[in-house]
Amino acid sequence: MTLSASLSVPSIRVSSLTKTIRNGTRSVEILRGISFDVCPGEFVAIMGSSGSGKSTLLGLLAGLDSPTSGDVILQGTSISYLAEDKLATLRGKLIGFVFQSYQLIPTLTALENVLLPFELNSSAAQTEGLDRARGLLAAVSLADRADHYPVQLSGGEQQRVALARAFILRPPIILADEPTGNLDSKNGAQVMDLLLDLNRREGTTLVLVTHDAAVAANASRILTVRDGALLSDLPHVPQGSMVTA
Ligand SMILES: Nc1ncnc2c1ncn2[C@@H]1O[C@H](COP(=O)(O)OP(=O)(O)OP(=O)(O)O)[C@@H](O)[C@H]1O
Ligand SMILES: [Mg+2]
Repeated sequence: MTLSASLSVPSIRVSSLTKTIRNGTRSVEILRGISFDVCPGEFVAIMGSSGSGKSTLLGLLAGLDSPTSGDVILQGTSISYLAEDKLATLRGKLIGFVFQSYQLIPTLTALENVLLPFELNSSAAQTEGLDRARGLLAAVSLADRADHYPVQLSGGEQQRVALARAFILRPPIILADEPTGNLDSKNGAQVMDLLLDLNRREGTTLVLVTHDAAVAANASRILTVRDGALLSDLPHVPQGSMVTA
């Protein structure tokens, strides 16, 4: 593929996505036909009230769940109806996911948690993974906590480990579901700064669910979900950008 052709492929294409869940005899429409594109390197914030469908949407983008209809296309590959083994390989290659509740493995140290996706998905030498994991832990100011277990870390520290883990395979796409939702404002700001810094330095596409307007203010676009549909997809001037008349 030529450079210009690869640049024209959206990082993420969401096409008429629906998700309906059967609850006994009732069926609940959680997502009702959502479509949007995310360009490579773009930072898109997803907002909307509790229960509007944000986490469901992000789970579908990551291939953690499958849609009722419609499609999610990551860098030109449709993921919605792939077999689980193919999907797992593609997910490992393309996506880093950051959860609100960190989701570290309690029996592994910080370093081992960061290294885990590398061990599961990379054929590169383990020394390379170790170097990168240590570098990422240093980048999130946790070099001295490498041998600590999650229970020995604060919430903010655990989320910084989770960020390092999300970046270990240099995924072109990071999906983050309220990554600062469980943190106080100081730790939340630190995690957000790191996420944006890693995103800029690595040129990663970032899709982030947040309730925090100050966090969303950094995005190039804000998608608002209401009752499972997109309310608006407004171009947004990130804070700190030059606005000329
Ligand atoms: N497995 C399920 N079975 C039934 N209903 C579900 C299921 N998963 C989600 N829902 C419903 O779908 C709706 C959307 O849920 P979702 O978790 O995507 O919301 P959200 O926008 O992420 O909310 P929050 O801001 O509180 O995290 C909610 O009404 C929820 O109760
Ligand atoms: Mg949610």
